[in-house]
This record gives sequence, C-alpha cells and structure tokens, in this order.
Amino acid sequence: PAPGWATEADVVVVGSGVAGLTVALRCAAAGAKVTVVTKARLDDGSTRWAQGGIAAALGEGDTPGQHLDDTLVAGAGLCDEQAVRMLVTEGPDAVRRLIETGARFDADDDTGEILLTREGGHHRRRIAHAGGDATGAEISRALVGAVRAAGIDTVENALVLDLLKDASGRAAGVTLHVMGEGARDGVGAVHAGAVVLATGGMGQVFSATTNPAVSTGDGVALALRAGAEVSDLEFVQFHPTVLWLGPEAEGQQPLVSEAVRGEGAHLVDADGVRFMVGQHELAELAPRDIVAKGIMRRMREQGTEHMYLDARHFGARMWEHRFPTILAACRAHGIDPVTQPIPVAPAAHYASGGVWTDLRGRTTVPGLYACGETACTGVHGANRLASNSLLEGLVFAERIAADIAERPSIPDPIPGPVPGPTPEPAPPGAATGASARGGGGALLAPEARYAVQRIMTTGAGVLRSAESLAHAAGQLDRVREDAVETLRRDGKTAEPGVETWEATNLLLVARVLVAAALRREETRGCHWREDRPDRDDAAWQRHLLVTLGPDGS
Ligand code: SIN
Repeated sequence: PAPGWATEADVVVVGSGVAGLTVALRCAAAGAKVTVVTKARLDDGSTRWAQGGIAAALGEGDTPGQHLDDTLVAGAGLCDEQAVRMLVTEGPDAVRRLIETGARFDADDDTGEILLTREGGHHRRRIAHAGGDATGAEISRALVGAVRAAGIDTVENALVLDLLKDASGRAAGVTLHVMGEGARDGVGAVHAGAVVLATGGMGQVFSATTNPAVSTGDGVALALRAGAEVSDLEFVQFHPTVLWLGPEAEGQQPLVSEAVRGEGAHLVDADGVRFMVGQHELAELAPRDIVAKGIMRRMREQGTEHMYLDARHFGARMWEHRFPTILAACRAHGIDPVTQPIPVAPAAHYASGGVWTDLRGRTTVPGLYACGETACTGVHGANRLASNSLLEGLVFAERIAADIAERPSIPDPIPGPVPGPTPEPAPPGAATGASARGGGGALLAPEARYAVQRIMTTGAGVLRSAESLAHAAGQLDRVREDAVETLRRDGKTAEPGVETWEATNLLLVARVLVAAALRREETRGCHWREDRPDRDDAAWQRHLLVTLGPDGS
C-alpha cells in the first residue's frame, strides 16, 4: 500500500536492541538526525533477555589474542579472522563506553573491579554480567534511557515492510506499518540516506526457542527482498540448556545461562552421570555446539527427552544472589534448583548467519547497513562463542556510526564481499519461486507461522539430514503455494498486519535456511547433518551467499 505519512531523517535505525540503540546514540552524538523504528516497545527485543553477559578481555592476564583464539575455535573454521580481531581488540573499550552510557555491571564491593564469569568455549573468566543473570535487561535499561535523554526520535509498534531505494539503487529509507495513534499511524515511510537493520534474530522460525515472539527474521527478509546478500543462515545455534517444559512446549522458553555451568554446575544424565566429562577437555564448558550434541546423543541413548543441570551445591544464598532470574523462572515452573536438578534440553537460540556485511557493517546494497544478530559480519563463523553477541552488537554499531559519519552525502558504491572463504553462488532452489514478498505475492495468514515452525522443528532442527531437509523444503513450498492459490482464487491476500507480515517473513527466511542447510553437505559447528557426519574442509571451508532474484527466485 502507498505510504499515508512520511518523515525524514539522516539515518533510520530499524530495531532497538544493543546494536540498534548503540548505532542511534553514536550517530546522534555525531550530529545526525536519527529515527529509531521498532516493532514493539523499545525494550522488547532479544537484548533484554540476555542472561550470561558480555565477553571482553577485561580481566587480569587476559588478552584480546586469547579471546580471538577461543572465538576462532568455536567458529569451526568459518570465522573471518580480521573481523574477529576487530571484535576482540575494540571490545574492551566498547564495553567501557557502554558503562559511560549508564550500564552498571556487577563489581567487587571492595575494589570496584568488574566481576567476570566463564561460559562455554572460553578458557578464561571474561564475561561481564549485571544483576547476576539479568545482563541484557540492564544494558537495555541504560541504552533506552540514554536514547530518551538524547531526545532521539523513536517510533514504536512499527513493523518495517520494505526498503526504499533511489534511482541509483541506493537505500533511501523504509516503509513501515505502524499500529499507533496520532500522526504516524498505518502505513508510512521514513526517508533517510542511511538505513541500519538491527532487527535481531529469527528464533521464531522454530517451535521452541529462547527468542521472544518478535524475533521473526524481519531484517533478513527485508534485506533479501531488497536484493542484499545473506550468508550462513544454516548455522542456527541451539542453546544446550533451556528449561525443559515438556514435549509440547512452544514459543519462548526460559534460558538457563551457560554462566550456571561457568560457576560449576554439572550436566548429568538420567542416571546422574556427568556425561560431558571425557568428551572434551572443557567438559560442560566445551563450545556450545559440542555440549548440545553431547546432550542430544545421551538423550537418544537413554531414550529421554531431556538431561539435567545439577547446581544444588550452589546453595540457596548463591542461587538467590547470583542467578535470581533463573531461580525465579525455574520456581515458576515448579522446579527448585536449590533442591532439584533442573531438566534441560537444547532449543533454538541464535542465528550465526544473517545479512552479509563488510567490516564497517555495509551490506551489498549501498546505504543499507546491518548490525547485531541480523548481520553476518564474519565473527561467528559456524558457531558463535558464548556472550560474543552483545559485544558484536556494540563494536559493529560503533563501526557503522563511524562509517556513516565519514560519508555524510552519497557514498562510493561499495565493493562486493571481501575475498576470504570462497563465496558460493545461491544454492539451487534457495527460495525458488518466492516473490518479492517471499510468498508468491501473497501475505500469509497468521496461522501459517505455526505450520512453518512445525516444519522447521521436525526437518531442520538440531539434527538434520538430506531427507529431513528435502521434506521440509517441500512442505514449505506447499505453504507458499497455498497462499498463492488463495490469492489467485479469492483475488485478495491475508489482511496486512503484524501477524501476516511476520508469518510471511518467517516463511521466506525458513526457505533460504533450509536450502542452505541442504546444500552444505557436511557437519560443521552448529550445522549437524546426520547423513554427513564429518567436517569436510576440502569442499566446505567456505560460505554460502544467497540473494533473491528480481522475481523472487
Ligand atoms: C547464556 O547466558 O547462556 C547465553 C549467552 C549467549 O547466548 O551468548
């Protein structure tokens, strides 16, 4: 639909987590007129739910080099080393600037030194945390407060629809559907010379996820429709320890932070055996993919639906002081971790891939940037290291703001992907036949969301095979074809609105994810192909880059 209202800015930031709000603050501080648009409330995204913390080489004896090594190992051969080097060297100062912005991290009462914990894959204590296990909530509080104090223009309840481009193909703003009141209500547009996508992840593509309901891949879907390249979507990270609420549990599930293991909790099987011991030198603190696989294997062997996380030895005082959020979530579901082991199982947690960017956050569409979980900057490779995500959001947000500040008018066209691991052409069948809406021109009915989730959970979850993925691809095609058929028959599509757009976006990213997972015929990082159980460096030490054609194919 044609926009009913329009507004102007230098920079429009889509999304309001750590990445989006940091870009907004830094751009505004440099004198730019910024508008932040966000789908729900400013603090409703994934950032608020982050528990464990933010990784940075802040501790005595720790160095960016050691942080680099741990990140590269977790990334299983697919990290861009230059990007990781930037992340780990610029990270400590970026965290200090976050503290100057108002975030308060847990610190030693006597010395004032920031307290650091460990998580999977880290050989040192390097995770700063806040409120015990409420790090994201504190970061969100500080950034939202700073954005409000700076008087930055914000539009809440605003679902982004599509990218606007000028005659040269450069990003020129976005269209939005705002469920608000007053002047900016309904479909409208923000015109801006720089567009930053920071819409978070796509965990809602699966039935059970740690992500909030708003994580529906909107930024990746928009970027695909706009012709930008996306990369590494097959690398979906499943968090090993999510509170198990039964086989039918759906939607956002309570996380049990890696930091609980970092402070000494044990993973045990149905017989009380610590099954990760002997599987990896770091046992329960191995990188996340290894722990998730260890849990899945033991569940299979024992024919159970979950394992246990045992931290009874922490005692009530430590639970209350160090992990109050997790304690409350467990107790709300009838589990008391002070006296009972916690039932846990893996659930979808993080998209390691996303919209391909260079080291300044620039996508392959001039003027369009991506940041945070929406982006694929190369720092995560095939498996993100724990607590590197908030850090990536901070560091690359600052890089984007610097790039925008240095390019006040029309920037040079940017080159394509930097040389590195060999780019792959779009996998055959990636989103084949999808239209510019990813649904054959039709918006999907809200219920299609649940069909997509069920298909993805069964066919493209933590364990995958060529057979399961091909079946999922066929079923997703049918969801799309049904929508197209309805449009053809009735001459109208589902009523435009948040739920229909979300379902449509989920289908589009699901189709690309499945096509990439089918194409990558190996097991690497968090991509686990049962039919191809080995890592194949000769064939697959490279990325899959995907674009939609002009007709959506
Ligand atoms: C956690 O607290 O376990 C989550 C940390 C992360 O996803 O990086």
